[in-house]
Amino acid sequence: MVNIADRYGDVQEYYFSQKLQEAAKLNATGKSIINLGIGSPDMAPPRQAVEALCTAAQHASAHGYQSYKGTPALRQAFSDWYAAYYAVSLDPETEVLPLMGSKEGITYISNAYLNAGDEVLVPNPGYPAYAAATKVAGGVVRHYDLREETGWLPDLEDLQQQDLSKVKLMWVNYPHMPTGAKATKTALALLVDFAERHDILLCHDNPYSFILNDKPESILSVKGVSAHVLELNSLSKSHNMAGWRVGVLFGHPQHISNVLVAKSNVDSGMFLGIQQAAIEALRQPQDWFDELNARYAERRELVWQLMDMLGCRYSTAQAGLFVWGRAPEGVEVGQLVDQLLYEAGIFITPGFIFGSNGQRYIRVSLCANTTQLQTALERIKAFKNTKIKTT
Ligand SMILES: Cc1ncc(COP(=O)(O)O)c(C=O)c1O
Repeated sequence: MVNIADRYGDVQEYYFSQKLQEAAKLNATGKSIINLGIGSPDMAPPRQAVEALCTAAQHASAHGYQSYKGTPALRQAFSDWYAAYYAVSLDPETEVLPLMGSKEGITYISNAYLNAGDEVLVPNPGYPAYAAATKVAGGVVRHYDLREETGWLPDLEDLQQQDLSKVKLMWVNYPHMPTGAKATKTALALLVDFAERHDILLCHDNPYSFILNDKPESILSVKGVSAHVLELNSLSKSHNMAGWRVGVLFGHPQHISNVLVAKSNVDSGMFLGIQQAAIEALRQPQDWFDELNARYAERRELVWQLMDMLGCRYSTAQAGLFVWGRAPEGVEVGQLVDQLLYEAGIFITPGFIFGSNGQRYIRVSLCANTTQLQTALERIKAFKNTKIKTT
């Protein structure tokens, strides 16, 4: 057997890739698993986006390879979106790079900047792709702690005491996944200042700012694009387009060119119909977000009930597509998650997959409709009466 390359030796198969296979096996035996694990929006994208895709697909000229950096019209639409919703001004020609999802951006940024042994500050808990991309690119992951007591914000005082001389990149993500914590503009400004003082490239991953969040913030509103800041964004959550794979990177023209070197050697541009659909999505007025959030708010009420039933403690001020709750003392989270899957037919995510600081927590997705959530509540009621084991 030919072995997998060493660079993947320390990188596990993505948790959901494994767990969804288990759920699929259970479904094949007749169980109907309610998936509250994953943040894949279940509602439709804007109608105009779907129409633009269909229209484009009918033209023979739409099917060829596309520019590596997207059409000028798409870059302009991203720039207009940032001006309208984040009050950030960006040059569509040089400061905007459309991506096929922000996840690929995490990989391209890592590949573009990391030499063997370069260190990367990665949040614990945080999105697992930051650590995976770092390792695959040959970098060294240095987790930094996020804790409930400090609002899940980095302790910059503590970091400053450490030797940061080998740190090249730092990942931050607010509203934060999985905790739903928000960062004020002041907190974002402190991060930019920290990055400048330590000559670190600060990468802000910002896909959740429109979900259950009154005031979307961009880290680029602190000082605009600069040598020390990049921002990723995405239409996956804000426009229900996760499967379409539309993301974007914003930054200084030199950084955009550097990341383009990594990207253009892997993919060959985004299908024109998807780009035209993305333009329509980006033109949606505030009503789009208001309606989306009304639905999520309704669901969140039910997820709060679910958390209450399980005895979990949670903040009602969280933003984003999930509710993050602390399991009751004595309940072993891995066991609870497996019991819910195998005995109650509900898939939720254990907090430990996001890092050791998540190990007492669970994460429940809002990407299920109210009927499914009501069923989940009934199943949990039945399950809870008999099953929750404590250590
Ligand atoms: C924090 C965070 N960043 C990035 C992504 C990837 O989003 P995209 O669909 O744009 O690749 C996710 C997806 O769940 C996420 O939670």
